[in-house]
Amino acid sequence: MAGALTPRRRALLAAGAALLLAGHAGLAAAADGADLFATHCAECHSLREGRDKVGPSLFGINGRTAAASAGFAYSEAMRRSAIQWNGLTLDAYLEAPAARVPGNRMGFGGLPDAAERKALIAYLAGIK
Ligand code: HEC
Repeated sequence: MAGALTPRRRALLAAGAALLLAGHAGLAAAADGADLFATHCAECHSLREGRDKVGPSLFGINGRTAAASAGFAYSEAMRRSAIQWNGLTLDAYLEAPAARVPGNRMGFGGLPDAAERKALIAYLAGIK
């Protein structure tokens, strides 16, 4: 029978699953910023300098002025916001994008968990 699990294969699979679980628990404890970025943001944002996707590149976002990725067609709301991106303004925006910058075009509802926002923002601050 092709594909049947021999006891040996079963044991190997179980060991692999245990390792995966252990690794995942470690990530969850640290609220891994890279993981959060991949899950919530990477679909629309690149971290490469000058590489815009549906959203603008987030390279060096901590310290940038809002709407500063040259060549990206920002909404008027974002261009007029005059936000200086730092830990505080990123936290407020990512918690509730539509409320913080009314009329902006980011199609993301917000990240309600404060610890996750903190980990994600710390990760982004390191990309520069
Ligand atoms: C569905 C696509 C989408 C997702 C998902 C998304 N964004 Fe955005 N983001 C955008 C768009 C589009 C803009 C530009 C908004 C505008 O011009 O009004 C933007 C703008 C931004 C800005 C302002 C950039 C600047 O140059 O001023 C930041 C910061 C940002 N996003 C961070 C994030 C983070 C962090 C995540 C993940 C938690 C995320 N975004 C998820 C589409 C997205």
